[in-house]
Amino acid sequence: MRLIIKILLIAGLLSCKSNPDNEEDQYVSTDEPVALSQDQESESYKRGKEVYMDFCITCHLADGKGIPGTFPPLDGSDWLTEKRAESIHAVKYGLKGFIEVNGEEYNNVMTPFGLTDQEVADVMNYINNSWSNNIEKPVTEEEVAEIVK
Ligand code: HEC
Repeated sequence: MRLIIKILLIAGLLSCKSNPDNEEDQYVSTDEPVALSQDQESESYKRGKEVYMDFCITCHLADGKGIPGTFPPLDGSDWLTEKRAESIHAVKYGLKGFIEVNGEEYNNVMTPFGLTDQEVADVMNYINNSWSNNIEKPVTEEEVAEIVK
């Protein structure tokens, strides 16, 4: 028991040391220098992060990598990059059935969350510009409103 606590303490210290700037934002990828891009400074991104923490993190996880075979990744997702309208549609109305993300097959269900159009836009801006993602064109409330069932 003691040993485990010691190991955890040491691991904690080491991770602090290697990421001195990273304490305030543990969800920013640690592979990159921690300077925030312009997109990450936007109010929409900041609100979207809160939506992500409340609604998405349980399945897609803090690192956006999901669980292979069960919950698809958002970090580096070709679905997200190549299917802008479908991605907004999925977050707005839910998604079920067969999809392929980065060559891996998923056949599962994401229920809708009852988010407002603004919240959908905000969380899209968060996932589009977190981890290794860098989809520059911001998603607006109007764009979400135009995506109908
Ligand atoms: C209960 C688990 C769960 C939660 C919570 C969840 N998702 Fe999903 N998500 C899934 C599953 C499962 C799929 C794939 C559905 C399928 O197989 O058709 C998916 C697919 C997606 C996709 C398209 C595929 C991809 O990986 O690019 C996006 C985008 C997405 N989710 C975003 C979100 C966002 C944003 C939230 C929070 C608002 C969220 N998800 C919350 C389970 C979840």
